[in-house]
Amino acid sequence: MTRGAPLADGAVRDRMVREHGRSLACEAGAGTGKTTLLVERILRGLAEGAFRAPELVAITFTRKAARELRERVRSRIAREARESAGGPVAERLRRARRELPLARICTIHAFCRRVLSQYAFEAGLDPGFQVVEEGLDRMYARELWQEWLAARLAEPDGLPALTELVGRGIALADLWEVARFALENPDLRPAGEPAGSGDEDALWTWLAERVRGFRGQVESALQEGAQDRLAGALRALDTEIERLGRLPARARSRWLLDRLDGGTVKLPFVTGNIGSGSNYRDRGVPARIRADWRRFREEAAERLLEVNAPLVLRAASEIDAFRRWARERRRDRGLLSQVDLLYETRKLLRNDAGVRRRLRREIRALMVDEHQDTDPLQVDIVESLAEGEGGPVLFVVGDPKQSIYRFRRADVGCYQRQIARFESRGDLGRIGTNFRSRPELLEAINRVGREIFDPGRWPRGQADWQDLEPCPPDARPGGLAGPALALLPIDETGSADARAEAEARAVASVLLAAREHEKVPWREMAVLFRTASRARLLEDILDEAGVPYRQERSQHFYRRLEIAELVQVLESVADPWDATRAVAAMRSRLLAVTDEALFRHVRAGGSLAPAERRDAGDPDVKRALERLAAWARRAREMSPPRLVEEILRESGYLLLLETLRDGRRAAGNLAKLLDIARVHWREKGLDLPGLVREFRSRLGEEQAREPEAPEAEDEDRVTLLTIHGAKGLEWDLVALYDVAAGSSRRTPAACAGVPAEGSPPETFEVRLQKGFASPGFAEADERNRELDRAERARLVYVALTRARCRVAIPCYPGTEKLDAESVLGILRLSPSFRRWEEAAGAGEQPPEPWLAFGSPPAAPPGPARRLDLGDPAEGRSRRAAWERARRELLERADRRVLCIPSDLHAGSGEDSGKAAAGPRDSAQGRRIGRAVHEALRWLVTGLLDDPREAVRRAAAREGLD
Ligand SMILES: Nc1ncnc2c1ncn2[C@@H]1O[C@H](COP(=O)(O)OP(=O)(O)OP(=O)(O)O)[C@@H](O)[C@H]1O
Ligand SMILES: [Mg+2]
Repeated sequence: MTRGAPLADGAVRDRMVREHGRSLACEAGAGTGKTTLLVERILRGLAEGAFRAPELVAITFTRKAARELRERVRSRIAREARESAGGPVAERLRRARRELPLARICTIHAFCRRVLSQYAFEAGLDPGFQVVEEGLDRMYARELWQEWLAARLAEPDGLPALTELVGRGIALADLWEVARFALENPDLRPAGEPAGSGDEDALWTWLAERVRGFRGQVESALQEGAQDRLAGALRALDTEIERLGRLPARARSRWLLDRLDGGTVKLPFVTGNIGSGSNYRDRGVPARIRADWRRFREEAAERLLEVNAPLVLRAASEIDAFRRWARERRRDRGLLSQVDLLYETRKLLRNDAGVRRRLRREIRALMVDEHQDTDPLQVDIVESLAEGEGGPVLFVVGDPKQSIYRFRRADVGCYQRQIARFESRGDLGRIGTNFRSRPELLEAINRVGREIFDPGRWPRGQADWQDLEPCPPDARPGGLAGPALALLPIDETGSADARAEAEARAVASVLLAAREHEKVPWREMAVLFRTASRARLLEDILDEAGVPYRQERSQHFYRRLEIAELVQVLESVADPWDATRAVAAMRSRLLAVTDEALFRHVRAGGSLAPAERRDAGDPDVKRALERLAAWARRAREMSPPRLVEEILRESGYLLLLETLRDGRRAAGNLAKLLDIARVHWREKGLDLPGLVREFRSRLGEEQAREPEAPEAEDEDRVTLLTIHGAKGLEWDLVALYDVAAGSSRRTPAACAGVPAEGSPPETFEVRLQKGFASPGFAEADERNRELDRAERARLVYVALTRARCRVAIPCYPGTEKLDAESVLGILRLSPSFRRWEEAAGAGEQPPEPWLAFGSPPAAPPGPARRLDLGDPAEGRSRRAAWERARRELLERADRRVLCIPSDLHAGSGEDSGKAAAGPRDSAQGRRIGRAVHEALRWLVTGLLDDPREAVRRAAAREGLD
């Protein structure tokens, strides 16, 4: 803490640190020292005996943040203990050092896990329960879903219920997406009550009557003998509807559904401005009819949705039943997901007063950092522990402008309501002095932030702006002087990748210049981006430029999990006598054998080599070994690429990947691997062992490029990180990258419902496909969209406030068309920023002393190192070729087609040498989608059990060869 001039908000800070008898909250902007206050409060509390280390629970957002907080508390106590001479304070600090490992400084999930293990019996859980890691969560959920589908189909009413849904064209994949949402949001129940079947006949009668009515109106107003196109169109439509009227109701509503487009139904024949006034006795008739016609089409869309709603609600209640079943199943098996940890803890605290009392006695101090990103369940847990007399004293800090984790259920509304309660009791402190950034940078941030956060812009869900105040000179960060904000004009107008590449080059030269001319250590620089999708490109350019970097969780191709797992399986197939390889293969997600099963198998005396006889052992393991052995047999009869395809198909691996967050990319990677195998086969005739050796040696090369051991955090490297990951951290220089990357938000199959004013959502809404949505879906989706957009602005605030001295931002002067929700799109909400961007493009002088255009400093002092970033043109063409190949692969691995490996194969002709298939037209795409769906349905319902046969038949039915 500073000891210089008193701060304007010094009294508030003092209270936050020293008042231990009362629950307090502190709300403040970025870099104002919230986390520092929390550490100081812990220190003072321990030193003054307000609580002891084992009585402390301090919750942070990520594991990395928890590690850091633990370290900060440890070193702070150590320093204070050294400085205090003796007496009771010194004694307490010594004890705190000893007891510190018992303090619970961790994430909320880790805290809940401990509570549940401690009180497993009371919570009705298996005391040895396991927690499924985040990525595996979905995979496991998917397994449960499939298990449930099978079980549900065996029930007397299960088959009709599910076939009704599927028969109406609802894809199992959509149902699964809703199911996943339901599992991930255990506190939301489906909105609305399932009602009886919607009346399709009534809808049709209404439609036919209205069309006839329009026709009558037009005909009676027509001039004698006139030939009018509007009248002709209505006649044709009327006839068509009469013809359709003889079809079954299902077929008619399908006809309507196919014409549903947004909020309207596009009926045939009657289009545009047809109908001429001169054909009518009253010239105004056609215009009036057309206006009525528009309203009629909208009403038709509304009615269609209404008719389908009961089916959607029934689907939602099926899914709710699945969720109950899955919860039971997980409890039986002793497996909890991350969100289950919160859900079960809250339930335990609500239902078991004894446990609650014990915990409230045990914990004296409960603190939460980054509370703005709180999950509604977390708020409940914290409040039920701390509310009323006799429980722990609560201390929460947060900044609503930094709430950026909606996708992980963060709900800034919950936080704001809790803070309002603190405020009403007079227990909220607000501070404004920022210790992180130079005053010049703060001026830039305040200017832009104020304009972006302008309340008029945000109808819903935005935090209030508050200027960040510069701190007194003696507490300012050292490091870089010079421009605080550098705009880097980019004149690349090509593809998104080409632009990103240009940005990466601009960023690389900023980093190099800061290092060369201003002696900034690499570790004091970071490059931040919204999504890591173009991080590879950045890495390539930084490699070329000789900038050392560290990317959290960077992975090269052969080291990606999906590739590594497939290679493991291939290794085992290539050598079926090797037990070790077989074990690795079985533990991969392709075969998904649990360690427990392996253990049982070995204990029962089973052998582990696929080529050996299998009599004893665990049935799961035996099945997996049988598969490996069968693949090994087949390896002798077919080419390696064909075998890889078979393995992918039979293991259902692609289907499974599809359910994971970046499953599409993973599938794309597998398609790429398959293509590599084809090339090796064609060009060199590599057999399976040869291919496996080749893959292994590639992996070796990658490992040589990047050391296996985790790099020490203090190594001198630039940090590459997502903005989300950068929360709470700081560097001297921060550059933003891929700033024009847009969002690809598609309409989700499920979303949180609209809550009652002043409370969190309690329901979820469902949209299974076009024309099938729960009644509240449209409104809820709109609301979620707005909230997401407001969050984008906060993400930009987080990015800008990570820097102590300088922020560098690529920009595109003169380019108007940009995704409004990209980082740059948000920055452009600020008129000041727009002006600067234009000035940068026009080559003007920067209007502010702390602003620079291009990489600062402009004139390098002393001998400058030549920045050899390679020939951009050559780089671009290489990149473009690669990008084309990638897109082709992705196209072939199209979501709905993902599960047919034969489609991955189609067109790339291992032996036929056919040219790659061109882009599918959408009708073809739909046919493929339907075929896949149909094949899946046959498989799930057990009508067929050979996937290949199912796909073949379904394809034939859809007229696909
Ligand atoms: N009282 C203080 N005197 C001097 N420096 C301080 C003080 N408080 C915090 N700092 C420094 O200011 C920087 C920001 O502090 P800290 O990370 O605690 O802020 P924060 O409010 O938690 O930021 P964020 O909103 O990003 O989480 C750190 O470098 C910290 O060392
Ligand atoms: Mg902080």
